[in-house]
Amino acid sequence: MLRVGVMVSGGGTNLQAILDAIDNGTVTNVQIAVVISNNPGAYALERARNHGIPAVCISPKEYGSREDFNKALLAGVDSYGLDLIVLAGFLVKIPEEMTRRYERRIINIHPSLIPSFCGVGYYGLKVHEAALERGVKVTGATVHYVDSGMDTGPIILQKAVEVLDGDTPEVLQRRVMEQAEWVILPKAIDMIANMALSDGC
Ligand code: GAR
Repeated sequence: MLRVGVMVSGGGTNLQAILDAIDNGTVTNVQIAVVISNNPGAYALERARNHGIPAVCISPKEYGSREDFNKALLAGVDSYGLDLIVLAGFLVKIPEEMTRRYERRIINIHPSLIPSFCGVGYYGLKVHEAALERGVKVTGATVHYVDSGMDTGPIILQKAVEVLDGDTPEVLQRRVMEQAEWVILPKAIDMIANMALSDGC
């Protein structure tokens, strides 16, 4: 069983997609050991609790400096003995020490086809606003490993989604979630869990 920690900042629809995929057997050999958020008001924490999964908040507001917050975040993550960390709408930059310690063990979902519309400043709705502004006809989502850069790690899966006439950022965001994010994030986790098993890990 792969011990997975999911890190979230908001509504947690990607977390829900993972939980549903585990419940219906699409994702196997995975146990969600903890859900961690930087935001005490994140509805994702509620989703975790409803599922009987430990839900933990580590908020930067409770620490005097970024360095102290980063230390607390890393200590929190370490304490769960995780094999894989999934960033499912976690909108905080991962401390470099954590990307080093968990090399190839952190994955992220990003709501565009990387390398388009990614990097500093591109998150959530902003990504879809930028895609519509540029007038692209196809967008999508990417699951990638997390390294010390912003959305720069090796790509695991991508799925394209059509942009339609009259799309608003909200409408496009929803289509990208439904057609791409909620499909490829669970799929990537399942691939990693079952690859790890066949490796004898
Ligand atoms: C998702 O669209 C995810 O791809 C995005 O935040 C949203 C979280 O939604 N992440 C990023 O933009 C990361 N750069 P959710 O809380 O409903 O899963």
